[in-house]
Amino acid sequence: MGIYRAYKQGLMTFWYWYVRKLNAAWPYKTVEGRKFTVSPGVYKPLENEHTVAEYCESGDRVLDLGCGCGVGAVFCAEKAKSVLATDISEVAVQNTIENGETFGVTNMDVVVSDMFDNIEGKFDLVIANPPYIAADFEDEENQFATSMRYLPVLFAEVHNHLEDNGRVVVQYPGWFKSHLKKLGAAHGLEMKEVRRMPMKSIGLMLLSVAYLQVGFRSTLFVFEPVKKIADAPKQEPVELKKAA
Ligand SMILES: C[S@@+](CC[C@H](N)C(=O)[O-])C[C@H]1O[C@@H](n2cnc3c(N)ncnc32)[C@H](O)[C@@H]1O
Repeated sequence: MGIYRAYKQGLMTFWYWYVRKLNAAWPYKTVEGRKFTVSPGVYKPLENEHTVAEYCESGDRVLDLGCGCGVGAVFCAEKAKSVLATDISEVAVQNTIENGETFGVTNMDVVVSDMFDNIEGKFDLVIANPPYIAADFEDEENQFATSMRYLPVLFAEVHNHLEDNGRVVVQYPGWFKSHLKKLGAAHGLEMKEVRRMPMKSIGLMLLSVAYLQVGFRSTLFVFEPVKKIADAPKQEPVELKKAA
């Protein structure tokens, strides 16, 4: 193992331990007036993650891939026809079920799934807030900040679960824009919108500092399938007039 890899692995081992302790001491996070339970071993939403629900349209079938405590799924469920919330972590899945019950959500299913393994069907909206540190940890509860697989698998397989006019919204640090654009293009997805997350409130900033989760501003990247020429609306031929 190279020095940088060993350093990263050590740092993240400490961070996972530390965050687990903090969540155990304070297993809650209030988002837009809703008090979510966030269990130890589950990612605490500190980046205005609920904003993703603005991309949910009335009647959408939504897939939340890596739901954590369920913040994105619960906010989308207000407008969606149905939501499928999934996570590799059993604890995260139980946590999302608990929050769904707390907020009276009735149109959400929650299942354990390693990426698309246990997912069937197609969706109008896929939301993803991937781990963005490239490192591998075995424990399923230590996947929320580190993964080598999440992003490549997301882009390689999402088309199997996306309606032709569907959208994929990926929350990721802004400096990955050109990397994400290339990944999308390689898999028939066009980056349609890039939107930095709203500025954090002072309270959220302080909480982020306590969680050592600072130094980047999260961004929403909206992808849509590249339209095939055959699908494009037919244009009426334009008649050219001669100049008088
Ligand atoms: C940054 S957290 C985001 C959680 C939640 N969506 C939110 O915004 O608060 C990433 C989530 O992806 C999950 N995850 C990581 N690797 C996964 C995989 N291979 N399959 C499914 N979920 C995965 C983690 O367990 C974690 O809950």
